[in-house]
Order: sequence, then C-alpha cells, then structure tokens
Amino acid sequence: MTQPTQPLHIVDIIRHKRDGLALSTPEIQHFIHGIVDRSITDAQASALLMAIFLRGLSPQELAALPTAMRFSGDTFDATPLHTFTIDKHSTGGVGDKTSLLIAPILAAAGLAAPTPAGIPGICVPMISGRSLGHTGGTLDKLETIPGFNTQLTLPQFFDTLKTCGAALIGQTPTLVPADRILYALRDHIGTIESPNLITASIMSKKLAESLNALVLDVKTGSGAFMKSYDDSRYLASLMVQTGTLAGTRTVALLTTHDQPLGRFAGNWLEVQECVDIMQQVRHPMSADLIELTNILSGWMLHLAGQADTPAQGAVLSDQILRSGAAYQAWLGIIAAQGGDTSVFHSSRTQNAPSSAIHDDAPRIYSRTLTASTSGYFASMDCTQAGWAVQGLGAGSAKPGDPVSAHAGIQVHAKLGQQLTQGHPLITLYSEEESLLDEPYHMLQETLQIQPSAPHLQPLIREVITTG
Ligand code: URA
Repeated sequence: MTQPTQPLHIVDIIRHKRDGLALSTPEIQHFIHGIVDRSITDAQASALLMAIFLRGLSPQELAALPTAMRFSGDTFDATPLHTFTIDKHSTGGVGDKTSLLIAPILAAAGLAAPTPAGIPGICVPMISGRSLGHTGGTLDKLETIPGFNTQLTLPQFFDTLKTCGAALIGQTPTLVPADRILYALRDHIGTIESPNLITASIMSKKLAESLNALVLDVKTGSGAFMKSYDDSRYLASLMVQTGTLAGTRTVALLTTHDQPLGRFAGNWLEVQECVDIMQQVRHPMSADLIELTNILSGWMLHLAGQADTPAQGAVLSDQILRSGAAYQAWLGIIAAQGGDTSVFHSSRTQNAPSSAIHDDAPRIYSRTLTASTSGYFASMDCTQAGWAVQGLGAGSAKPGDPVSAHAGIQVHAKLGQQLTQGHPLITLYSEEESLLDEPYHMLQETLQIQPSAPHLQPLIREVITTG
C-alpha cells in the first residue's frame, strides 16, 4: 500500500535546505512548478536559491533540479528532422562571442552534408541567454541586428533549423520558463557563482533542446564565474555528469579566461567582429577568438561524425570560415529570423570600431587607456573589465531594461605582449559621455605592466569527457 503523500509547503522546503537537509525530488518539482505558476513568490524563490548557494546539492538533487526545470514548459524536439542535433554552451565570459561563429560554421557543415530528405545533416538549435552579471549575452548581441527576432515560436524555430541548419533564440515564456525566472532572480541576489545553480541553469536549457551531443566551454580565470581552476573543473564535471545521465554525449573544455576574448566586448561591436572574421578580415586581436572557435567547432564536427578527430575538426572549421561558407550560412540564419542583412554589406570595423549600425545612430563617445610605462602586459582583472563594459551601457541594471548597442571596449593589446609607454591598451565606447569615467578608472586600476614576461596559462587547460 502506498503512503498518502503529505502536501508540500515552500516554507518547509526552504527550511530543509537552510538546515542542510537534502531535498526530495517531489520537493524540487514543487519548487519549480510553484515559480512557474507564480504560487511561490520571488522572495521565497530567492530564499531557496540562497540556501542552495550556501548548502549545495547532493548528486540526487542535482539530477532532479535541471530535469524539473527542463520540463517546466515546452521542450523542443528535433527528432522528426532525422538530423544530428548538437549545441555549444559557455559558462559566460567577457567578449565571448564564439556562438555567433560556431552556429554558422556548424550550419555550413550540415548544409554541405544533407540527409536523404535534403535537411542539413547537422542542426544547431541554440537557446541562448541575456547578459548575466559581468558577462554579455548572445541574445543582447543578436538583437542589435535590426529586425532580428530571438523570440521565434517553436514551429518557426523548427523550420529555421530545417532550412538553415541553425537558429538562435531565447527562452520563450513557454520554453524552460523556470530558468528564465531563476536566472533573473539570481542576477539580482548574488547567487550566480554557484556550480550547482549554473549546472541546473545551463543544462536545463540544453537538455530541453533534446540534443545528440553538447560541447561546453567552461571558463576558468579572472573573467570566469568560477575563478579557480579546481572550482571550474568541478563545475565542468557536474555538467558533463548531468548531460551524460540525461543521455546526451557531453564534453567540456576548460578554457582560460583571464582577458576579454577577441578584439571587442559589447553588443554590436561583437557582432561586427564576428562578421569581419566571416568576411575573412582577421585582425591580430581576434586570434584567440578564432582559435577557441575552431577548437570548439572542431569538437562538435568530430562528435557529429564530420571529422575523425577534434583536431581535424578544428582544421575543417577554419576552412569553413575561410571559404566564406560560414558567412553564407550566417546570412541565411539572420534573414530567416527577420534580420536586416544589408547592415553587413560594408565592412564597418575597418572604417571605425565605433561605427554605427545605422547612419542615424547616436553619437558615440570614446576614451583610450594607454600603457603608463614600458614593459610586459602582465595581468588584468577580467571580471572588472566585464563590469566596465556593463557600466558603459552594454548591460541592463534590471531585467528588461534596454541595453546599449554601441557601448563596449576595444582591446589593443593582449596579455604577454611587450609594450612601450603610451601604447594603447583599451578604448572605451559609450552612447553617454558621463558613463565613461567610472569604467575608465576601474580598468586603469586593474591593468598591470611588469618588467619581465608573465607566466600565462594555455587557452585550453583540459578536456573533460566523463563526470
Ligand atoms: N549561463 C547560463 O545559462 N546560466 C548560468 O547560470 C550561468 C551562465
């Protein structure tokens, strides 16, 4: 005989976690249902998030939380396409725009190898996020493209994948609504940097895409949410374990993030940088971005059966970029999602990095930090650089507030580079002159130059394939 089940109360659930007890799967499901149907208040949800942040989750709780979140609304099912579905996700970084390159690279590879039904052989159903903490968000970047719609319905998402091989959307009100609600709360109550909550957030979205395979870019270093190598490694293993348990082949790359990735950080600036690369304009400051993109895409192409090894996949990825096939795939995706592709037709970055999307765009103010002394560019606090980008207007103070398209930074030197006094280091851009001061001083304090060459970590620290 089954025991009658006790009704669950959110206050008891909060107390349990507060006191260090493990939550049962029904308790976790009750919490997730309650935040979605709004029977649980933001205050209660925040209290439980903080308790989870402080107390952690057991392996059973960690399996239950992303599963409950994954099924908190609609899920996306690409199986009728009979294609290989794969995605990449990053734990978040400054200037981290690899998604904007990886989606078209994989789409181009899939378009070149169609299924017998004429559908791209690889599909990338990317469900992305907005800016979180000091990091930028793929959706905020894409939405600077006039007309681009990140809120496709699921049938539109399906159709875009079928014709273009990739589509990039945000969580709709019905797609993983639990993460949308929790993500916004976490950003405002100081609970982002929790390996358990990051795992649940990322994996709920990724598993809702019903993927065959997933490649994770887990950042480590001064610009990562998890600064220490051990914490990042732990986060990577939690995510690989969660994906594998759910039946998705999951690989995590631990990547060094001690400086902004590539040449720009900021919404439209990052789109411009990627378009330049796809148009074969390769600036030396974009070298780390291109390298990381090819390594991540290489793993994806390998998992999708297009390359015998990840290294061969990286070579293929670079060929796809250099051949212009990624750019053609990009134009297809942007047009299919309502974006105005005419904004890419002249190479704007060459004219001026602060060039605007439209000719009638607002005036853009700038200020450049230079090397105060000669020596080697030794270190920076990359999280502070991210906050500077947000402070210039690229991020929103509250969920839903508009973000500036043109605000951001341009990197003129990379760590380890030998500099003479006066060499430009970083240019700041903002649509409001008054927003330049604070980020300028924040950055000035964090940039360190020293007489000897610094010891730098390699871009790829480790690849984790089992949890
Ligand atoms: N990216 C996400 O999608 N969620 C997090 O919690 C952190 C980074």
